[in-house]
Amino acid sequence: MKRTLIQQARPEEPVLIQGFVEHIRNTRKMAFLVLRDRSGSLQATIEKELHPEWTGLLDALTPESVVSVEGVVRENPQVKLGGRELIPSALKVDSFAVPLPLTKDANIDTRLDYRWIGLRGEKERLLFEVQTCLVGAMREFLLGRDFLEIHTPKLIAAASESGADVFEVGYFGRKAYLAQSPQFYKQMAMAAGFERIFETGPVFRAEKSYTNRHTTEFTGFDLEFSYIESYRDVMTLEAELLTYALERVQQKYGEAIERLYGTSVIVPKLPFPVLALPDLYRELEKRYGYRLPASEQGDTTTEVEQLSFRFSMEEFGHEFLFVTDFAAEKRAFYHMQENGVPQGYDLLWRGVEITTGAQREHRYDVLCRQAEQRSLGEDVKFYTEFFRYGCPPHGGFGLGVDRLTMLLLGTGIKEAMFLFRGPNRLTP
Ligand code: 4AD
Ligand code: MG
Repeated sequence: MKRTLIQQARPEEPVLIQGFVEHIRNTRKMAFLVLRDRSGSLQATIEKELHPEWTGLLDALTPESVVSVEGVVRENPQVKLGGRELIPSALKVDSFAVPLPLTKDANIDTRLDYRWIGLRGEKERLLFEVQTCLVGAMREFLLGRDFLEIHTPKLIAAASESGADVFEVGYFGRKAYLAQSPQFYKQMAMAAGFERIFETGPVFRAEKSYTNRHTTEFTGFDLEFSYIESYRDVMTLEAELLTYALERVQQKYGEAIERLYGTSVIVPKLPFPVLALPDLYRELEKRYGYRLPASEQGDTTTEVEQLSFRFSMEEFGHEFLFVTDFAAEKRAFYHMQENGVPQGYDLLWRGVEITTGAQREHRYDVLCRQAEQRSLGEDVKFYTEFFRYGCPPHGGFGLGVDRLTMLLLGTGIKEAMFLFRGPNRLTP
């Protein structure tokens, strides 16, 4: 018999339902099993007198075992779970579960140890449905604008962002590194004349950070496109992309998110507000008495980011804020500069950085000079070569998918990832 999903089971039709046993109530005369598959839950109601052959099985059955149940669905208004129940005619246990090693209120570390069990919940499933929808909508948006999706190597010969945060791996007797970003290869695609590309893939950062928004491996949504006039074009594209994707999420999952996460999906208004960093400092000082430590000049800190959310809501009624005009020494060497000012931005959402973007330096000699200023000459020679044989002006950004998901649902990053990786966590 072919399997039917719980959600699609029609009354009075014979079905085969397969799933986990979420809950068992086994009384003298009756047994009630709540079955769960990816589409929902359904109660199976067993009159034990009719099936004496199942007595042993029902006594031994444990929660979270996996079963196959054939039967007929009946409408029954007395059943709390959707007003219907399954009357089984055949019952088979495919996998017995031993008692669960954790309770629902276990701490996050125990939950991560047994991540596959924690992921069985409706709430957790929703997170991945939302993430699938979000990334799918972004992909769709870009495909509709003639972007190509590419896949670049993660084993590389030189650090792509900074030397400090890179994981080193042995590579047949020499050193290789795990890519901190697809940056160099995105730009190679520009030199290849692809004009518009994006990639979604793993990004590695050897950062010993123990915050609720840092991880050592995350999923990056990166794009790059040619013939821009300035980094403002990159900002415009990103704002449109996010608005499109969030609108899609709101339509499809807004209610479920409200119900299970208690938070609303707000489709942002275009254009997003933009502020230069020195102006942002000034506003934070004026409004909230914030004083930036001298050592942090030219960059945003966690505190600045959080305060700027308050500011952005009060001033613009907007959850997103573009910040521009960072200090050159705080930004990557490949950002184009004008009068010493990097032509790039960070995008903050609900007070957390979700993106860094920029126009890139495509002029070979200027790029080489900027690399040498950071003593990067030899390391990035393979990269600067991309710009010697003709390369259009271009820009792009890197967006953290895990941070996006986390902010959308109001969780920490550990809950927003299928499997979190941190300085102290490499398993499961
Ligand atoms: O700001 P980042 O380091 O920028 C780059 O990788 C550039 N190549 C992007 C560009 O095209 N100019 O990383 C991009 C984004 C961040 O804004 C953040 O959302 C996310 O990646 N991210 C992290 N997410 C989780 N854990 C970490 N340790 C992260 N580091 C960056
Ligand atoms: Mg950044």
